[in-house]
Amino acid sequence: MTVDSADELEGLRRAGAVAAETLREVAEAVRPGITTRELDDIGRDIFRKHGARSAPRVFRDFPGTLCISLNDEAVHGVPSLRPIFPGDLVKIDVTPILDGYVADCATTVVVGGTNHRLADCATRALRDGIAAARANARTRDIGRAIERVVKRDGFKVLPEVGGHGVGHTMHEAPHVPNWDDPRATDALHDGLVLAIEPIIAVSDAWLVEDDDGWTLRTAHGSLAAHVEHTVVVTDGEPIVLTAA
Ligand code: CO
Repeated sequence: MTVDSADELEGLRRAGAVAAETLREVAEAVRPGITTRELDDIGRDIFRKHGARSAPRVFRDFPGTLCISLNDEAVHGVPSLRPIFPGDLVKIDVTPILDGYVADCATTVVVGGTNHRLADCATRALRDGIAAARANARTRDIGRAIERVVKRDGFKVLPEVGGHGVGHTMHEAPHVPNWDDPRATDALHDGLVLAIEPIIAVSDAWLVEDDDGWTLRTAHGSLAAHVEHTVVVTDGEPIVLTAA
């Protein structure tokens, strides 16, 4: 969507604040032994407290509140009774809808608290991608900025998945690639709301879908990381709606 009133911006900010609070709380709750369903329940309770609902559940009938993806699962992981183990790479993707506004954010938690190069790379790629999101730039420019960071670290972008417009629904035009895609010629304009989300892997470039019909994991089992923010494009620095 494109923001064209102070009311709309305020509605998006509220949705973004719920997304950010939920992501922070669920990320802090990640520890060995907790199941991904227990993490999902924490997210569900925070959504309820604010009167928000899960956009993937509302729009796609997703069997959970949050997408929680482990290790080689890149995105769309379904909360389950699988416990977290030390060393797991946990991707939490939070997409509330509140009063008709959708915000989308994600982070990658390294269980045990040690820094992980892959998660760190995704975070830096997101920062550079956000910096490239300015009025009159093109979606390709965001992808190029993200891919540059990922390539420099020797990792791979997963080109089948990427960012997108957001705000009224979960996935809107334009698609925002995570690589320098020559077809990504959509021009950005002031007020455009985008979810920017590097999804990267150690060595795989392709994804396969699990039998559950949701989980997308790397084709050969390499670890994946995913981080995301929802931003409003301006003539200068974008407004990050899901900042902690
Ligand atoms: Co997204």
